[in-house]
Amino acid sequence: MVAKSAPKSAIVIGASGGIGAALAEALRDEGDYAVTALSRSATGDEQIDIADEGSIARAAERCADLQPDLILLATGLLHDGDLGPEKAMRDLDADWLARQYLVNAIGPALVAKHFLPIMKTGGITRFAALSARVGSISDNRLGGWYGYRASKAALNQLIRSLAIEWRRKNERSIVVGLYPGTVDTGLSKPFQGNVPEGKLFTADRAAVQLLDVLDDLKPGDSGKIFAWDGEEIAP
Ligand SMILES: NC(=O)c1ccc[n+]([C@@H]2O[C@H](COP(=O)([O-])OP(=O)(O)OC[C@H]3O[C@@H](n4cnc5c(N)ncnc54)[C@H](OP(=O)(O)O)[C@@H]3O)[C@@H](O)[C@H]2O)c1
Repeated sequence: MVAKSAPKSAIVIGASGGIGAALAEALRDEGDYAVTALSRSATGDEQIDIADEGSIARAAERCADLQPDLILLATGLLHDGDLGPEKAMRDLDADWLARQYLVNAIGPALVAKHFLPIMKTGGITRFAALSARVGSISDNRLGGWYGYRASKAALNQLIRSLAIEWRRKNERSIVVGLYPGTVDTGLSKPFQGNVPEGKLFTADRAAVQLLDVLDDLKPGDSGKIFAWDGEEIAP
């Protein structure tokens, strides 16, 4: 049993990434949570590969006693070596599309499958996966970025179904997607050229903004996608 004075428990998955590392640090600075940081590049008990369900299941088992109040999933894939967002349909490649789907949509859904059941029962719990505005179908005016857009749209749809199912287990659960804005990390590095002045956030600033948004959410917000300024993003 968790002692009353014990801090709440948070797990950050993808804590080796630009935003994930900043989220873990911001939570530690706030002091309200005991923070467990998991990542693919970690070794031992902190290791998780979200492209491998066995690895996800083992990580969830190791974390089960933590009964987390908060889980932040900050993993994601936009480019890797020569592979990046598709400019046109001639660039579509089945293997690259499948990998983007695996990391951006399937992996997060399997993380939810194994980690939602270990969250604290009763009371408000928050599970948030980082998504992207380009995952909004109604907001797609420019086209391109086929795999990233579609895998984030799939993530958003998965989040909605997960939220509906999980509400029946815990009516005070919050399961959402969060868009961090354009953030100065390795993921956005090659695409920062057109970012308007003042709109490229440091990872530290993005982390604080996302935690503020998450703090204000209510169970009625579960299943939705929110931007860094608290605005809901249309599907
Ligand atoms: N930066 C932006 O401007 C921006 C904008 C919109 C949305 N987002 C979203 O925000 C999230 C975080 O992005 P970021 O900017 O922080 O990117 P990042 O610095 O590239 O971090 C990506 C993270 O994902 C992890 N990852 C990738 N594949 C994995 C796997 N199979 N198993 C476990 N972890 C895996 C990486 O782990 P390794 O260290 O092991 O590679 C890394 O920790 C992503 O979902 C991204 O789509 C970012």
